[in-house]
Amino acid sequence: MEKGKDTIALILAAGAGTRMKSQKPKVLHKVCGKPMLEHVIEQVRKLQVEKIIVVIGNGADQVRVTIGEDVEYVYQRELLGTGHAVMEGEHLFRDHRGNILLLYGDTPLISASTLSKFIQYHKENNFAATVLTARFENPFGYGRIIRNKRGNIVSIVEQKDANKEQLSITEINSGMYYFNSQLLCKALKNITNDNAQGEYYITDTIEVLNKEGYTIGGYEVEVAEEIEGVNSRAQLAKAEAFMRKAINEYWMEQGVTFVDPATTYIHKEVEIGKDTIIYPGVLLEGRSKIGSNCIIGAHSRIVDSNIGDNVEIQISTILESTIKNKTRIGPYAYIRPNCLIGENVKIGDFVEVKNSIIDDNTSAAHLSYIGDAEVGKNVNIGCGTIFVNYDGHKKHKTIVRDSAFIGCNTNLVAPVEIKEGSFIAAGSTITDEVPPYSLAIARARQVNKEGRFKKKETKDK
Ligand code: UD1
Ligand code: CA
Repeated sequence: MEKGKDTIALILAAGAGTRMKSQKPKVLHKVCGKPMLEHVIEQVRKLQVEKIIVVIGNGADQVRVTIGEDVEYVYQRELLGTGHAVMEGEHLFRDHRGNILLLYGDTPLISASTLSKFIQYHKENNFAATVLTARFENPFGYGRIIRNKRGNIVSIVEQKDANKEQLSITEINSGMYYFNSQLLCKALKNITNDNAQGEYYITDTIEVLNKEGYTIGGYEVEVAEEIEGVNSRAQLAKAEAFMRKAINEYWMEQGVTFVDPATTYIHKEVEIGKDTIIYPGVLLEGRSKIGSNCIIGAHSRIVDSNIGDNVEIQISTILESTIKNKTRIGPYAYIRPNCLIGENVKIGDFVEVKNSIIDDNTSAAHLSYIGDAEVGKNVNIGCGTIFVNYDGHKKHKTIVRDSAFIGCNTNLVAPVEIKEGSFIAAGSTITDEVPPYSLAIARARQVNKEGRFKKKETKDK
């Protein structure tokens, strides 16, 4: 895809997004885990354009921090409309002899392949400008495309400015345009804010160019949903549903089983191996990578984590961690950030692990807290074991060496080290290092006071 060599992309993202009723700039609202504006930029990048300029205004600092410095920014101080936004960026392309790809930051579903076909259509027909259009059964809110008898576009009329006849037109303006750069600069001089919203509309440049005798093409998208703009929360949810479906269909094509794709939520950057089975209600977020042949049980949530092959996860949460092959997690396990869990490990029900390394073949099968620890291979962590890592001021580390056996209901008070092969008696509170291959018992001895209970009972009567 190299349609964009002579192209500067201009993305408008300064609008207030009033209809979202949000503190956050509209273009930063996320669709499948990624800000809308970032989706648009990502697709444009695939076209290998000369440069990308983003017009920011409302929440400019926030947008810039989120999107980063790989694009150029223009600041639109007063939001006087889409035409005005383009004027603000004009000094950056005034001398450009090629073309301008103009997009809006609130259309997250547009694909690079559609943009590429669109640009090709423009170039093959030598148009002065080309508008990407779509047909919507319900075109409400969009600008309507007015074509002449030859099929070329003569103007675009906004919803609020349209008459009854124009409102019945179902072909709409996507807000994506490809302009001859010099002609765009020329046309910008002739647009006014004499309209229902008192704004400078970029759409008016089409009528200006047409009146000057230039030919404007209209390229209708194949998949109309791709150009849907997001102006409200309902439209945001709709975009999310569309992208989710596309992501899930993609992974099914790659050999992943979805028990119910309609209730499986996978972010754009996630990767999944073949023959993995994903049950309903699963959320795979951020940059998570799931291996092949895994079972991701219902209602599991995995965020920014790396999961090996043949891993089974049941109704658990895993955050910013790595889980190696053949390990079983859950049900109801909570793996918090910065864990490295080895191969063939078992982290069972109601086990919480944080900032810890757990080596191969180790098992913590039930009801434990493991924090700030380094646990070796072939270790058994008995039910109810607590790694006491916090003294009220600082966190401390616990080391459990290979093949140690930690009996049930043990407290390991950090900092402490359990050497290789040692055995901790159930119910111990361990505060000192345990030497290799030793038995440590750290609990009060049992005292039997014979007959005492019976005597007490007789007295009560
Ligand atoms: C716009 C189009 C409409 C089209 C629709 C497609 C115009 C006049 N209308 O309407 O024909 O059918 O998009 O989704 O262009 N923006 C700025 N600065 C401004 C105003 C807007 O940067 O001063 C940005 C917004 O952040 C947004 C984009 O431009 O990303 C579009 O603005 P919006 O107000 O959403 O336009 P629509 O009413 O949707
Ligand atoms: Ca819009």
